[in-house]
Amino acid sequence: MTSFGFGQELIDHAEGAILHTRDGREIVDFTGGVGVLNHGHNHPRILAARQRFAERHRMEVHKTYFSPYVAALGHNLAAVLPGDLNMSFLPNSGAEAVEGAVKLAYKYHGGKRNTIMRADISFHGKLLGSGSLTGSTQNHFAFPGIPGVVKFPYGDLDAVRAAVAEARRADGGCDVYALLIEPFSASTMRSCSEEFLRGLRELCTAEGIVLIFDEIYTGWGKTGTMFYFMRYPGLLPDVVTTSKSFGGGKSSISAYVAREPIFRKAYDSLTDALLQSTSTTYYGFGEETATAIEAVNIAVEEDFPAKARQIERILAPGLARIAKEHSTVIDEVRGAGALWGVFLKAGAVLDLVGKVAPGGLAKDPQFGTKLVTCAVIDELYRRHDFYTYYTLNGRNPFVVAPPLVTDPAHVERFLEALDATLAVGLPRLVMRFMREKVSSLW
Ligand SMILES: Cc1ncc(COP(=O)(O)O)c(C=O)c1O
Repeated sequence: MTSFGFGQELIDHAEGAILHTRDGREIVDFTGGVGVLNHGHNHPRILAARQRFAERHRMEVHKTYFSPYVAALGHNLAAVLPGDLNMSFLPNSGAEAVEGAVKLAYKYHGGKRNTIMRADISFHGKLLGSGSLTGSTQNHFAFPGIPGVVKFPYGDLDAVRAAVAEARRADGGCDVYALLIEPFSASTMRSCSEEFLRGLRELCTAEGIVLIFDEIYTGWGKTGTMFYFMRYPGLLPDVVTTSKSFGGGKSSISAYVAREPIFRKAYDSLTDALLQSTSTTYYGFGEETATAIEAVNIAVEEDFPAKARQIERILAPGLARIAKEHSTVIDEVRGAGALWGVFLKAGAVLDLVGKVAPGGLAKDPQFGTKLVTCAVIDELYRRHDFYTYYTLNGRNPFVVAPPLVTDPAHVERFLEALDATLAVGLPRLVMRFMREKVSSLW
C-alpha cells in the first residue's frame, strides 16, 4: 500500500465525501468506504445520535433487560423490507450475518438436509464458514469449511436446476437446505437478471430450499433501490443479510433478516431459542444499535435510492463516453446506481509489464490488469485528488463508488479526472507508478 500516494499520507479529518489530509490536501473519497460509507464520513445526524446516547448515559449492555434499541431496529428493518421479512438477528460483521443465515437454514430443516449451494463468483466473507462459501480468487488456500458446498455458475438457472436435481437424498427428497447468492456482486460488478432471480425463487419454493440474498454491500440504496432485489416487485428471499452502511459509517453492526415462519420454525421453542440468539458478546450494544437506527432513518428520509439514481444519471453516460473514447484501454464498464466497475485492458502494455515486473505475469495471469489498474488509481490520487480502489475478485475491476451524499459537481469532476488520467496513456502511467514504488522504498 505504501506504493500508493494514500499509503504515505495521514488523514486529519473527514466529512461527507471529503478527506482532509494533515498536509492540507482535500481528497474526494470515491471508494465509498468499500460499501460502509453511503452516508459519507461523519454524517451530522449519526454524530448527533451518538452524542445524545453518550450525554444521556444510556445503558450500553442489555443482556437480559429488554433493549428498546434492538426492538426499534428490528421493527424498522421489518418496516423497510417487503413481505414477512420480519425477524432480525444483529451480530457485528458481514461474515457473522452470513453464517447466522446459513445456520438458520440448516436448523430450519432440522439437520436433515446437507447440501448448500453458492455461486462460482461469490464473496461472502473470510471466516472459516463464510470463506468456504466464497468463490473469490483471493481465497486460494484450502482452509476447512462447511461441508456439502456445491457451486453453480452465477446467473445460470439451468445449471442450478441440474445441481439441485443431483443433490437428492436416498429417499428421493431434496438435500439442499440453502442457496446463497449476491443479486448484485459488488466484487465482480455482475448482477443477476430478473428472470434468474425469479426462477431461483420459484425453484427454492418448490423444493423447500431457504433462499438467502447477501446484500451486505449493496444495501441502503447503493444501487438505486433500497436493496438490489427490491427493484423487482414481489420478489422475496427467505433471508437477507446486510451490514456495511447499515452502521452509518460508525457502528460495526450487521443483520440477517428472515421471513417469520422460517425463523420461528428454526428457533421458536424453549429448547432451541438460545442456539442462535443474544449469545455473542456485543450483540445489541446500545450505541451501536442506536447508530444503526439513525443510519436507517437517514437512508429512508434522505431517500438514498434516489441519490444513487441521481449519481447514476451522471456516471453511467459519463463512463460510457470515456469507455468509447479510450476503447483501447477500457474493455467494459458495468454497474448500477453509485457502484460502477471499469475493466481495464492490460494488453497494450503487456510487454512493458513483463519488463518492469518480470515473473509477475507467470505467477498471476491478472498481474498486468492489476498493475495498470493500480497505476490509474495512483494517478487519480496524486494528480487529481480522488481516492478509488479495485477489487481482488473476478477480473479486478477499478471501482467507482462515491458515497451517496457526494456533491454531483464532484462526480462531474471525477469524470474529467479519469478522462485526463487515461489520456496520459497506460505505459506512462505504469512507469510513473513504478517510479513512485521505487522511491517509496528509500
Ligand atoms: C457481499 C458481501 N458479503 C459478505 C461480506 C463479509 O463482510 P465482513 O467483511 O464484514 O465479514 C462482504 C464484505 O465485503 C460482502 O461484500
